[in-house]
This record gives sequence, structure tokens and C-alpha cells, in this order.
Amino acid sequence: MFEKYLSYLVILFVLLYALYNGLNKKYTQQHKKVKSVEQVSIEKKQNDPFKKELQKLHTNAYTKAYIIYVINHGSEQFNFKGGVMEGGFASPEDADKIACYVMELSGKKCEKPYEKNAVMFYTSNCAGCHGEDGKGLHGTYPDLTRKRLLGIEKRESYLKSMIKKIQ
Ligand code: HEC
Repeated sequence: MFEKYLSYLVILFVLLYALYNGLNKKYTQQHKKVKSVEQVSIEKKQNDPFKKELQKLHTNAYTKAYIIYVINHGSEQFNFKGGVMEGGFASPEDADKIACYVMELSGKKCEKPYEKNAVMFYTSNCAGCHGEDGKGLHGTYPDLTRKRLLGIEKRESYLKSMIKKIQ
């Protein structure tokens, strides 16, 4: 008698367990769907600043801002034999003028032509390493007349990798 009930009981348990499993699966699937929609919109927002920066990465304004940043803060991103570049070889006021001069060395235009004394500032503060013509010294000091400066190229691949990772 008891054994008969036991087998019913076992069947009941198995059925209940299957039902529980099925419901649970459905719930987590639905839950996942909702979460992924949220996630996508968050990720899109996270992507925005990277995409925006990427769009203006090769503009003259961005290049100028990058050169000014390097003059003020230095650069230690690459492996040049000359070592790293310290910040502050020129004052922040002169940095602006020098940046325009550096850009014009490779035919890039600043919104205003560089002031005459920029040449003097460049010669006395930068030319010792980067050369009068800005072409640097192969392997020792970077060429500042490259179409795309190394730091900007590096930033480009960083931004692209971030956008890929998030998508
Ligand atoms: C003592 C030598 C030295 C002097 C002086 C110097 N630099 Fe540099 N500069 C370097 C070195 C070395 C690097 C590369 C550093 C690195 O690994 O990031 C560099 C990097 C740079 C870069 C980044 C290049 C790129 O392709 O991303 C810019 C821009 C730059 N210098 C501009 C200037 C300007 C403008 C001046 C003058 C105010 C100046 N430097 C003075 C040695 C110098």
C-alpha cells in the first residue's frame, strides 16, 4: 500500500521539479531580454564620447590641442632613444604659438597664422631635439611633421578598440 503511494509521490515530485525548472528557465530568459535592452542603451551612451572624439581626431584643432598638451605635460608614450619628453620646455602662453608653428611645418593650418616670435620660441625650446625643420632624429626624437602625429595615431587605435569592445 505505502509503496504504491510512494511511487505516485515520486512521480509528483518529478513533475513538480520539471514544472519548476521550466518556469525558472522562462523567467530567466525574459529577464535576460529586458536586461540586454537596458544594457544596449547604456553601452550606446558609453560609446558616444569615444565616437565623438574619433570624429574630430584628425582635425587641425585636435592636433593643435594635442601639441599644446605635450608641451605643457610632456610625453612618455614611445620608445625613442632620446628618452621621454619633460613638460614645460615652454610656458603655456608660448605653447599656443609654438603649436601653430609646429603644425605649419607640415602644412597644417591654425585658425590664425603663427606669430613671428613663435619661430624663435621653437628654435630655442624645441629644435635642439626635434630639429629646425621639425623632422626630429630618426629613432631618437620623433618627427613632428608627420601627417598624423604618433600620439594621435595611438589614441585612434585606443578609441577604436574601446568602441569594438563595447559593441
Ligand atoms: C630634450 C629633447 C626634447 C625637447 C627639448 C623637446 N622634445 Fe618633444 N619629444 C621628445 C621626445 C624624446 C619625445 C617622445 C617621447 C615619448 O616617448 O612619448 C617627444 C615627443 C613630442 C611630441 C609627440 C610627438 C608625436 O608624434 O606624438 C610632440 C608634439 C613634441 N615632442 C613637441 C615638442 C615641442 C613643441 C617642443 C618645444 C616646446 C619639444 N617637443 C621639446 C624630446 C624633446
